[in-house]
Amino acid sequence: MQHSTGYIVGFAVAICLVCAILVASSAVGLAPRQEANKLLDRQTKVLTVAGLIEEGAGLPREEITALFEATIQQKVIDLKTGAANAEIDVATFDQQAAASDPDRSFRAPPNASKVRRLPNNALVFDVFEKGELTALILPIEGYGLWGTLYGYIALEPDARTILGITFYKHKETPGLGGEVDNPRWKALWPGRLAFDDRGNTRIGVKKGVAGSPEKDPYNVDGLSGATITSRGVTALLRFWLGEDGFGPYLASYRVRAGI
Ligand SMILES: Cc1cc2nc3c(=O)[nH]c(=O)nc-3n(C[C@H](O)[C@H](O)[C@H](O)COP(=O)(O)O)c2cc1C
Repeated sequence: MQHSTGYIVGFAVAICLVCAILVASSAVGLAPRQEANKLLDRQTKVLTVAGLIEEGAGLPREEITALFEATIQQKVIDLKTGAANAEIDVATFDQQAAASDPDRSFRAPPNASKVRRLPNNALVFDVFEKGELTALILPIEGYGLWGTLYGYIALEPDARTILGITFYKHKETPGLGGEVDNPRWKALWPGRLAFDDRGNTRIGVKKGVAGSPEKDPYNVDGLSGATITSRGVTALLRFWLGEDGFGPYLASYRVRAGI
């Protein structure tokens, strides 16, 4: 049986319309869930780098949210001054979106991490346990071999000793640079020192094996076969812990904490 041209065109248009409606309504319908998952993901990463939950513990979402709300205080800060910015809604602030918005960012000074723009404001986290500040968590990012690594670093209240590090998004090769995800490598970080006595950023990933945190406090083992990623991690830490990153925030924290 042969159909007329009008029938074929009408049929194709009807199929397109039905598909368009299906795709559009699922995109709109799923948006709140995607937002909720994004938020849960951020909470999980922050709690993990703070050492409050085990990596991959698979806790129920209510438990994660309750723990986050009980222990973590989120703050939007002005990156250049380090001062808190209470005018921005912390619950919805997206630092990465801000960094790519020309109205809410500025050109980064030349840097080895290939960070091109810096957000005017950044999202940082204070961890409180039993009412006492136990950690400062800062977002970090920078280029490895294949792309930008995104993560967090947690510092002890002395703003110098590292409590943990995590990278939650990157494009490095599994088994090589992708070993930044390896819990054994991440376990090498706690107890190392981000800064020396004079406040210079010293922490870095060396080529080869580092000593214990007591004997070799500024170095972490290199990732074997992945010197470029290792260098990238060093560069991004030096950048974000330095003057152009969270230097002003850490300086103002030290004044407030009297250290
Ligand atoms: C397919 C492929 C993927 C690679 N992925 C990475 C990587 O993710 N990170 C990295 O630093 N080097 C990676 N390398 C290796 C680099 O090209 C370079 O050889 C290495 O960083 C040198 O590290 P080494 O001095 O420890 O051997 C990769 C190489 C190949 C061929």
